[in-house]
Amino acid sequence: MSELSKIEIITGMSKLSKLKTALSKIGVRGITVMQVLGCGVEKGTQEYEVDENEIMELLPKQQINIVVETSKVDKVIETVKQELYTGHIGDGKIFVYGIDNVVRVRTGEEGNDAL
Ligand SMILES: Nc1ncnc2c1ncn2[C@@H]1O[C@H](COP(=O)(O)OP(=O)(O)OP(=O)(O)O)[C@@H](O)[C@H]1O
Ligand SMILES: [Mg+2]
Repeated sequence: MSELSKIEIITGMSKLSKLKTALSKIGVRGITVMQVLGCGVEKGTQEYEVDENEIMELLPKQQINIVVETSKVDKVIETVKQELYTGHIGDGKIFVYGIDNVVRVRTGEEGNDAL
């Protein structure tokens, strides 16, 4: 069975449409999007230097989950970076996980066949 990975992207609310188009073009065959709250190292501020006593302010973000064959992870990351990069605070973060299996309920297929 080929190896599978989950790529979780957390970013601001504005770029989903462009990202969907780009991911579709490189052969991503499924996507899950959640509205979440989050902050990164700036604790929700627009400052690079954040006081350790600063309270975290959670801002609305989108979490985009994609499962692909592990061999495609680099291509997906490259595409996401291209679409999300502005060079400013809050461009987003990408987390990559190994996953054990995928089962497609309709057909009973598993692993990469299920994708
Ligand atoms: N260490 C972390 N653990 C869990 N979620 C995180 C972590 N860092 C960032 N996130 C999530 O990712 C979102 C986007 O992070 P963000 O782009 O602000 O990262 P950053 O490390 O603060 O980088 P930057 O300095 O470019 O803003 C956050 O709003 C949060 O939901
Ligand atoms: Mg940040």
